[in-house]
Amino acid sequence: ESPRDLEIGSAVWGQNELLGYDRKHPNEFQKILGDEFGSLTPENDMKWAEIHPEPDVYDFSGADAVMAFARANGQEVRGHTLLWHSQNPAWVTEAAGTWTCDEARDVLEDHVRTVVGRYAGEVYEWDVINEVVQDDWDAGGVRLRTEANPFLKACADDPVGLLGDVFRWAHEADPDALLFMNDYNAEGINAKTDAYYALAKQLLADGAPLQGFGAQSHLSLQYGFDDSMQANFERFADLGLKVAVTEADVRMPLGDDGEPTAEQVALQADRYGRLLDACLAVSACTSFTVWGFDDERSWVPGVFPEGYATIMTGDFEKKPAYDVLLAGL
Ligand code: XIL
Repeated sequence: ESPRDLEIGSAVWGQNELLGYDRKHPNEFQKILGDEFGSLTPENDMKWAEIHPEPDVYDFSGADAVMAFARANGQEVRGHTLLWHSQNPAWVTEAAGTWTCDEARDVLEDHVRTVVGRYAGEVYEWDVINEVVQDDWDAGGVRLRTEANPFLKACADDPVGLLGDVFRWAHEADPDALLFMNDYNAEGINAKTDAYYALAKQLLADGAPLQGFGAQSHLSLQYGFDDSMQANFERFADLGLKVAVTEADVRMPLGDDGEPTAEQVALQADRYGRLLDACLAVSACTSFTVWGFDDERSWVPGVFPEGYATIMTGDFEKKPAYDVLLAGL
């Protein structure tokens, strides 16, 4: 925790790192996770495919492991996530297109009440809706993922009405949790965050208990740093919302030896520092979470032709980015 109650968090995959130990140095990993962070986000364990694999089967093992670890180490937990187009179980993706809106709503309501209810009082922030705005937005307009998201697809006649209800169900199940919308490419002021700003105003006008805006902050050195992040956070804060950096990492293309240049290492540290500064500058910014703290466990190399995205190497050597974050707090 930082001087002004900013929680510094990390993602952790409970099933792999707390129960399964499928990567190297599990004990050292857990010690750092417990000692250095005030908040945890289950990286995959609360996603539909993991926690609700069959219509009548919930599997809480990974999520429970994260909660137990957090409890034992006095840490907060960010819940992640209740409505997303990705990492859904086969039974959900197969039902997409066949559900009526009422059927989809019933399935979603049961899921939200069950999962949020199980951890009620123990989760301080929930990423309720994740990546619901399309990348190919029309500037200024809200284009929701009504094709890729099975639930939004079933309720494409009134997707915002469905989103409002998801917030209502979550709020009823855990009135203490702060309820967030969350997305990538959502750091600075751009057409996508304009869409979120319009969506947030609409949800609030509808009386939905939306309480936070999360910028995932998966950055790459291939792109410039968006200096409008603080201004973006401020406009959401002015709506009365909390804001958060929810999944920070800073990846980069690596040479044939798999190593970054000295210049890249320094630039990464600078980008992490500026991300943290944007959060620190806005009093409504409640948490700053890195999406894993070491390169061995980072999702980046599996998805992008890039790497070196986290604040420690696979052997837990602290990078300049780590020192910059610590100095910034
Ligand atoms: C990623 C996880 O880190 C991976 O382990 C998994 O294979 C895919 O999902 N946006 C999100 C996160 O909201 O849930 C994603 O996490 C990264 C992008």
